[in-house]
Amino acid sequence: MFQYIYSILAEFGYHHPLHPAFVHLTIGMVVGAFIFGFIAWILQKKSMTQTARHCIGLALISVIPTAFLGYGDWQHFLGGAWIVPIRWKLILTAALFAVLIIACLSGKKLEKISFGQLFIYLIGLLIVVVIGYFGAELVHGKRVAVSEKQPNEELVLKGAEIFSKNCSFCHATDTTATKIGPGFKGIFRQDKFEVSQWPVTRQSVEKQLKTPFGNMPAFEKFDDKEIDALVAYLKSL
Ligand code: HEC
Repeated sequence: MFQYIYSILAEFGYHHPLHPAFVHLTIGMVVGAFIFGFIAWILQKKSMTQTARHCIGLALISVIPTAFLGYGDWQHFLGGAWIVPIRWKLILTAALFAVLIIACLSGKKLEKISFGQLFIYLIGLLIVVVIGYFGAELVHGKRVAVSEKQPNEELVLKGAEIFSKNCSFCHATDTTATKIGPGFKGIFRQDKFEVSQWPVTRQSVEKQLKTPFGNMPAFEKFDDKEIDALVAYLKSL
């Protein structure tokens, strides 16, 4: 079903993940609940307590589409790979959902916010910060390095674009350090791939995409030209 949604969006020229567009609502509401809750606790104001409660309510509702779209992005852009940041995001999202339900149910009839209530809001806030950290880890790699003055610039740029959309979540291009998969700086100046020990050739890259060695999702969708572009880009690193 998700593939269908993404393919419709692609028709309109939208190729980006959907989760980041929604996640701000949840983050904003959880942060807002804590800030208004804190003010309400200091000033003992009923109106502020109510604002905080409204924020928590909307945060709880917004978690559902945000998590749903996060799941979709994970399947679509990362091939559902069972990687560490995703595991944490799933566990913490379940925890956040539970905390928000507790926050909504408790103190329902309170005229003014209690310290316990504020503490629950604070836990929600901390969970959101940590989920955001793992999200940033996944998205951060969207930046890909393109050095200047390439001999076949057009092909390299096309490869960089494909890489940025499909590979950069897991592979860095400005270092050889492992992100989720190995980093590719200077990769075509080496004889062998570090993990698979295959020779560094176009053939091996193609093989890795179609029948991957180890824990990488397969990418069968690329045609010869796109693989040429990816290889040209990898050679430029
Ligand atoms: C979900 C994460 C993920 C994505 C997305 C991904 N890879 Fe990988 N890739 C890996 C992992 C992990 C390995 C190493 C295999 C292992 O450790 O099990 C790997 C290995 C490789 C290797 C072999 C490196 C070696 O040292 O053996 C190549 C080449 C490669 N990937 C290219 C790509 C390209 C090109 C793309 C984009 C079309 C891509 N990968 C997308 C995770 C990913």
